[in-house]
Amino acid sequence: MRTQIGIIGAGPAGLFLAHLLHRVGIGAINLESRSRADVESTIRAGVLEHWVVELMNELGIGERMMAEAHFHTGITLQWNGARHHLDIEGLTNGKRVAVYPQHEVLKDLIAARLSHGGEIVFDVGDTAIRGIDTQTPAIAFRRDRTGDLETLHCDYVIGADGFHGPGRQAIPRGHRTEYQKVYPFGWLGILTEAPLSWHELIYANQGDGFALLSTRSPDVQRMYIQCDPTDDIAAWSDARIWEQLHARLGTSDGWALTEGRIFQKGIIPLRSFVCEPMQYGRLFLAGDAAHIVPPTGAKGLNLAVADVMVLSRALGARYARNSQEGLDRYSEVCLRRIWKGERFSWFMTTMLHRNHDESDFERRIHFADLDLIRTLDAAARSVAENYVGLPFDA
Ligand code: FAD
Ligand code: DHB
Repeated sequence: MRTQIGIIGAGPAGLFLAHLLHRVGIGAINLESRSRADVESTIRAGVLEHWVVELMNELGIGERMMAEAHFHTGITLQWNGARHHLDIEGLTNGKRVAVYPQHEVLKDLIAARLSHGGEIVFDVGDTAIRGIDTQTPAIAFRRDRTGDLETLHCDYVIGADGFHGPGRQAIPRGHRTEYQKVYPFGWLGILTEAPLSWHELIYANQGDGFALLSTRSPDVQRMYIQCDPTDDIAAWSDARIWEQLHARLGTSDGWALTEGRIFQKGIIPLRSFVCEPMQYGRLFLAGDAAHIVPPTGAKGLNLAVADVMVLSRALGARYARNSQEGLDRYSEVCLRRIWKGERFSWFMTTMLHRNHDESDFERRIHFADLDLIRTLDAAARSVAENYVGLPFDA
């Protein structure tokens, strides 16, 4: 097999890249280790920055999103029993975010890609990257996990294969530096059949720590609470989850969180991670393969799409004008945005979680940060601009 761009992974980074390359006439094939059904049903991120919404529409894949997403003009911050509405639209010259789950984005990307004649090989096994320090790189893989070994020959290999994929490991140890922070807490996420409790997302730090009230549809809500990342999910009965949600989201003004049947629950650890640089020879990393953020700022998916915007432009210039400059600067350009996303995610996470390794002094500093956002326009604007997505700089 041969294509111009061999992409490992059919997550947000890999699929957006295939679409962006198609738009400029560059061929690509995605190799994905999971089944289509698995990719289209795994519950992950929920918030799309305003420019990702615009991009979906520009790519002609925004129709279902425009009909089904919830568009939010603000978020609510809550601490010590009081709520503060952050007017994101007012603070950012009219920008909004969409709550539209990642697996719905992936369904739209996959359906459109296949209808354009694009190729996504699901269920591949033994993916191995070859010859990235030569002019003729390739990806070896097996169809249906155990089929004969095949080779996808290409001009460039893209590691859009998430945090645990082989992409990053293909950069020799001495040619990459990794920066990491592991947090002493995780998130327990639930889906519940309950009506909306509040008109926008609530990020709360109260009682035993963080809670997030999000939504999926008028009848299904998404909620998260801070927990010990090593907790067994079996230790979290539905009653314990509701008790904690009420404690962390409760107010004294008679508002009540509406409960429903919990039909999905799981725990994820929280970490910040960056690999520098994001390229080696003819291999380029994009998305979670190169960087992870804790989910508190809702940046993970959005940063992955930002990487492939930069990468598609660089590859476009390489094929149209034989210009190497964009590819040479790929890592440097992406990392400027990524570190700001890392900073915002770390800031939101430390401000909004209860950390037993921190002193009461530091906890009070976090409440002072929240109060600054409530009272100082510049502080509020900074959070709002980061939340909807920072402008791209050159
Ligand atoms: P991925 O989505 O991980 O896609 C990589 C793809 O590569 C996967 O489909 C994988 O199967 C495939 N792959 C891996 N190895 C191979 C291989 N050897 N061969 C072929 N294919 C391979 N972000 C938020 O903003 N909010 C959230 O609430 C949130 N929740 C999350 C929950 C979980 C459990 C996880 C893991 C992430 C969450 N994130 C969240 C982060 C967000 O989902 C990611 O940032 C986003 O998925 C990144 O997209 P990606 O394409 O870079 O990587
Ligand atoms: C959701 C996830 C997030 O990480 C976030 O900050 C906001 C919403 C969600 O899954 O709905």
